[in-house]
Amino acid sequence: MTQAELLALADQVFIKNYRQQPIVLERGQGCEVWDKAGTRYLDMTAGIAVCGLGHGHPRFTARVIEQLGRLVHVSNLYWNEQQILAAKAIVDRSFADRVFFCNSGAEANEGALKLARRYQAVVANAPERTTIVSTHGSFHGRSFATVSITGQPKYREGFGPMVGPVEFIAYGDLEAAHS
Ligand SMILES: Cc1ncc(COP(=O)(O)O)c(C=O)c1O
Repeated sequence: MTQAELLALADQVFIKNYRQQPIVLERGQGCEVWDKAGTRYLDMTAGIAVCGLGHGHPRFTARVIEQLGRLVHVSNLYWNEQQILAAKAIVDRSFADRVFFCNSGAEANEGALKLARRYQAVVANAPERTTIVSTHGSFHGRSFATVSITGQPKYREGFGPMVGPVEFIAYGDLEAAHS
C-alpha cells in the first residue's frame, strides 16, 4: 500500500488518542529512518527517550532473531535466564537494589505510586498519608492514576472521577513540596 492509502486507513481504524505525524515509517539504519514515500529523516525521538537502540544493527538484530527461535513470550509466573541477567545488569549500573519490569511509562509510574502508598501504609505505619504531590504542566501517562497526577487538564477532561488525593505545585517549588 502507498503512504497515502495507509494514512487514510489509519484514519479509519485507530482511536484518535495520539496525534501522529502524517508519515508511515518503513525502515531504518542507525539513527536514520525512511518513510513509505522514500523520504529520509534523522530519528531524534526513538521511543520518546526510551529504546534508543538505533535501527538495523547487525549484532542486535542477530540476538533478537536467536531469541525468537528459543522463547518468544512467557508470563511473569516463570523465570527465564535473560530476564534475570537483564535485572542484574540494571542493578549493577543503577542506584537500585531490585527491579520491576513493566511495559510502559504509565505502568512504571503506577508502580511507583503504589510503592509510595504501600511504604506509608506498611513501613511508616502512616496509612493516612495518601496525598500525591505533582507539578503543573507535568505528564505522567494515560492510565487512570497517571492522568490523575498529570498537571495538564486536557488529559483529564472527560475521564473523571480521578484517582486522588493529588496536590499540584509549581515545578521546582521545593518549599511547596515540603509543606
Ligand atoms: C514524562 C513521561 N512520563 C510518562 C510517560 C508515559 O509513558 P507510556 O506512553 O510508555 O505509558 C511519558 C510518555 O510520553 C512521558 O513522556
